[in-house]
Amino acid sequence: MENDINRNLLAFIEKSPTAWHTAENLTGLLRAAGYRELREEEEWTLGPGARCFVRRNASSLLAFRIPQGTPAGFMMMAAHNDSPCLRLKELTTLGSAGVYAQVPVERYGGMLLSTWLDRPLSVAGRVVVREGETLRERLVDLRRDVALIPNVAIHMDRSANEGKALDLKTDMLPLIGGEASAESFRRLIAEAAEAEEKDIVSAELQFYPRTLGRVWGAEDEFISSPRLDDLQCVFSCAQGFLQAGESDAVPVFCAFDNEEVGNTTRQGAGADFLARTLERIAICLNCSLPRLLAQSFLVSADNAHAVHPNHPEYADPVDRPEMNKGVVIKFNASQRYITDAVSAAVFREICRRAEVPVQRYTNRADLAGGWTLGHVSLGQVAVRSLDAGLAQLAMHSSYETAGAQDTVWMIRAAERFFSSSLYLNGETLTIRDGRAACDAAVARTAAD
Ligand code: CO
Repeated sequence: MENDINRNLLAFIEKSPTAWHTAENLTGLLRAAGYRELREEEEWTLGPGARCFVRRNASSLLAFRIPQGTPAGFMMMAAHNDSPCLRLKELTTLGSAGVYAQVPVERYGGMLLSTWLDRPLSVAGRVVVREGETLRERLVDLRRDVALIPNVAIHMDRSANEGKALDLKTDMLPLIGGEASAESFRRLIAEAAEAEEKDIVSAELQFYPRTLGRVWGAEDEFISSPRLDDLQCVFSCAQGFLQAGESDAVPVFCAFDNEEVGNTTRQGAGADFLARTLERIAICLNCSLPRLLAQSFLVSADNAHAVHPNHPEYADPVDRPEMNKGVVIKFNASQRYITDAVSAAVFREICRRAEVPVQRYTNRADLAGGWTLGHVSLGQVAVRSLDAGLAQLAMHSSYETAGAQDTVWMIRAAERFFSSSLYLNGETLTIRDGRAACDAAVARTAAD
């Protein structure tokens, strides 16, 4: 069973080479489940039972359901749909160096550069096409082996195995063909955009590895694929969101772009996309937003570091998550991870009810570590929050590894989370499963 789920995950990742494609594929899942798209530029009307989603920049997406009756609060899970990669500079800067055509690139996010060498790459992203006096965005994905970044042979560089630094401007130039192939390359992009080359006004394109995801191991216990960080969480949270039953809260599934470059774009978790959307929901339902936020909860779901088989010394001596041992809750005294005792208790309780094991992660005490969506989204939407994720190896490699069973754990945890609502009464928190029929807490909340 878990391998069917993981094959679905890997198929989802394969057709989601960029954040735009991920949002597009999520849109397909949501529409099939009866969700309608709202546009930020339009007025919204929302009533009980409404199932909706909204996109910003075509790359970040928020989906939600309106419950019957007065909602308790928002139950939110957020994951990021961008991954570190090599971005093409403008198509017009494409040039040839001697006998080869190469593509100038920039780094998007903190990638492990060496993992991009010697493997077939393709190109995907979006272009803006002129149609009369209109500019239209088109997603493109070449879906073919079109480029490769070759290593230098060991015979030419005997120091290659001695911790050699890779230089982005010289070592990481993708080769696309012979000197005349630049023109063909531009034509392929135009064909993928179903446009004339002259009508492509601008483009945001990136290389992606063509390596396919696999389920592997002596007992098929691992999965490896590009972009598991964070599409394993995006997929799992989306499945849990779609499978969850009715509750008294507004379940909100969030997929944010630009986590790998700091979240501060118009569509990133640090912007007002989520805050404005929650505000509009509250206005439509004639509810007080601060009242709703006081009973809301946000899980920032982003993959965590599993203890490494060859380098266990990088892990904390105590909090060292393992793959296939359950959802990881991340803690950090400096609050780069936003989990606190109360939010950990709420999420642990939800996982206990779902029969999902949980593990702890902290950075080794002398390592700074990173931060993720929750830390920045709190600046816009200050609700009880927690950082969680799934244990994985080789984060930011072009081919990452995680636990097959963990996908199932996260879907199950997300399903239970999105079926729950939170009720606050002073220092007492009640987590309710499913819908409360004529409940005293609901009556009290509605009367406030
Ligand atoms: Co991540």
